[in-house]
Amino acid sequence: MIDRETQERIKDAADIVEVVSDYVHLTRRGANLMGLCPFHNEKTPSFSVSPRKNICYCFSCHKGGSPVNFIMEKEGVSYYDALRQLAKKYGITIEERELSDEERARATKREGLMIAAQRAMQIMEHDLTESQQGRDVGLSYLYGRGITQEAIKRFHLGYAIDSGQYLTPKMQREGFDPEILRELGLTGLSQNGNLYDKYRGRVIFPILNPAGRVVGFGGRDLKGGPAKYINSPESALYRKNQELYGIFQAKAEITRQDRCFLVEGYLDVISMWQSGMQNVVASSGTALTDGQIALIHRFTDNITLLYDGDAAGIKAALRGIDMLLSHKMHVNVLLLPDGHDPDSFARANTPEEFRQYVDKNSTDIIRFKMRVLMQDAGDSPQRKAEVINSVAYSIACIPDEVQRTIYIAECSRELHIDEGAVARAVQNAHYAILEQRKRDRNRRDAERDYPVASPSAPSAPATPGQAQTPEITAGGNAQSAPSTVQFIRPAAEYPMKPIETNLIRYLVRYGYLAMHLDDLTPVTPADGGDTETEVLYTITDYVDEELQTYQLQFSTPAYAKVFDLLLNRLNDYVGDLERYKLQISTHLAAERQQLASLIPERVSTLDDIEREEKLLDESIRRRRDEMLYNFALNYPRNYLTSHEDDDVRRVATELIAERHVLSNIYSRNTTSQEQELKDLAMKTMRSIEEWRSELLNIEVRQLLRRLQSIEDEDSEEARDLQRQIGVLMMKRAKIAKECGERIISSR
Ligand code: CTP
Ligand code: MN
Repeated sequence: MIDRETQERIKDAADIVEVVSDYVHLTRRGANLMGLCPFHNEKTPSFSVSPRKNICYCFSCHKGGSPVNFIMEKEGVSYYDALRQLAKKYGITIEERELSDEERARATKREGLMIAAQRAMQIMEHDLTESQQGRDVGLSYLYGRGITQEAIKRFHLGYAIDSGQYLTPKMQREGFDPEILRELGLTGLSQNGNLYDKYRGRVIFPILNPAGRVVGFGGRDLKGGPAKYINSPESALYRKNQELYGIFQAKAEITRQDRCFLVEGYLDVISMWQSGMQNVVASSGTALTDGQIALIHRFTDNITLLYDGDAAGIKAALRGIDMLLSHKMHVNVLLLPDGHDPDSFARANTPEEFRQYVDKNSTDIIRFKMRVLMQDAGDSPQRKAEVINSVAYSIACIPDEVQRTIYIAECSRELHIDEGAVARAVQNAHYAILEQRKRDRNRRDAERDYPVASPSAPSAPATPGQAQTPEITAGGNAQSAPSTVQFIRPAAEYPMKPIETNLIRYLVRYGYLAMHLDDLTPVTPADGGDTETEVLYTITDYVDEELQTYQLQFSTPAYAKVFDLLLNRLNDYVGDLERYKLQISTHLAAERQQLASLIPERVSTLDDIEREEKLLDESIRRRRDEMLYNFALNYPRNYLTSHEDDDVRRVATELIAERHVLSNIYSRNTTSQEQELKDLAMKTMRSIEEWRSELLNIEVRQLLRRLQSIEDEDSEEARDLQRQIGVLMMKRAKIAKECGERIISSR
């Protein structure tokens, strides 16, 4: 931390002309200076610098401000980092504020990681060009792939010597703590307690943060081994979902072009960079995260996704577009021709050709989604309806209303659907999103009193086909959930279908939530599965047990399939949940530390600090619960709605899209969150009771029909039937009573 006084001193020293001159060629124009704006692409200067006011300003793009603002904007760094940079320029030493023990420990830790990573990068960079092995193996590989010396320098590419005992002992001798090296993922610990190098015989791609500090390493295999890449693990230094490969080298150009290309791989970035398209970053083979989008957003609103033209590429392009749209990004997508990735395409074409291809073939993402999904849907009206819902959902994610209107018109034209119908679908999706936000807000408010997370989809929802709009639900399966047992006239084929629908709906929507058996309350996996000894017991487990006890089976084939899938997937889920827990706990720990370090800036007495920290811990815990809850909630949904089996996908999508069920559970705002969860367990249970009752009802109906066909009411046969009916009715009453008792006892 920088104390106030020093902050002021730096601000006083910083001269706007000197600072801007590092980036822009300025010429005097009267009292001011003018130059080409560094924040957007222009041919005539509209960037003005006023020495008198010590500010800069662009008359076209309206960016600018004080020297500090300028550095923040230009370098994409925080306020404090901008100050540090200026301090360096003006030779002001920063007496970093006295830190608390914890802060110091953390700062030292991060600093330690950073220094070690920096040193490791240096060694590997050196070894690529200065060692025999590096030249023979690493450098010749890179040259073979057309990488230039300039790019190798700019991206600090390196080579890890092919030995388990090279980097680690070397750095240990230099005084680096092996624990630090392990945390960085450079060093492993073998079964018998020996330290060894993890990156061996690999080309190294250092991952730099926007300020140019190395935070992680990707190492590409050269020997045809099983792991093509080794990547740094999550650490206090490397937050995977906050970093983008190439951002440091690309950021200036992203600002200048006001556009960012997004590709998948390290080599794609470098090849495009060499080809003159330097505004390019990579997500490193995974879906974009909110943090990464925010990072790009610091430099531009415009993003172009560059993918291979194959199925995987298309899928990747569609993934996460709703998230991008809701970040107010303008998203384009560009598919490369057959079998090309950006790397091979950049090498097969001149930069000029590449640029032309980009200009000609970039497609707006919504248009793209429409076309791809429509092609996929063929003539099936059902699939078409799904496409419309999914596209409508994406459109609804766009915050700008004008933009939405344009897309609605286009969607209607392209899909040959009445514009009003599209508008309604979008409107409904929009409501669903707004309601979602409201629920999120309400929950946050409610959690202040009682920290139980409530079921809700995440705020950046919807993989394609997971539309939550009920307007054009495919197949129009809109049976409402009967809350009491009625003598439903059963559909001929599957008489139990309406009842089964109730149950399968709960399973699809909430099946992996954990349950507390004693009071039948579903709980967040945080409570349910946290202690090692406790086995995760989900609603699905519960239903399975009940069905076995009463020897019930889903008669509707699609439902039977869904239930089977849910049961079989549980094991995977448990593993995935564990992994997810690990991931978020690192993430949350980091966040906690960051927030905790800000507390002393707000309050000063020890008591206050302690209190604030307690509140912080509390809120972090709630966040964790909420995240785990959403994970449990979304897991079966995502799994089923993207399943390869058509029936499964359709059933799941329908059941999730029905909105009235949601409102059944959530509309009564007087009930507490806890009560709502309890209601859910109760409803599941009641569904099973209804099922059992309905089986009896069917039997009763059959007997009644036979009874009616008998003329003589006093005959032996008639009396026997009456008795049987009586027994069945009693059974039914008993079930109802059981059900009632359990409900009462659970409150
Ligand atoms: N990736 C990874 N681990 C893997 C495979 C891929 O981390 N086992 C990440 C890397 O960031 C990689 C990106 O996903 O750059 C894209 O994968 P891929 O296209 O397979 O790799 P390239 O980097 O393009 O490598 P190459 O062209 O040499 O095959
Ligand atoms: Mn490649």
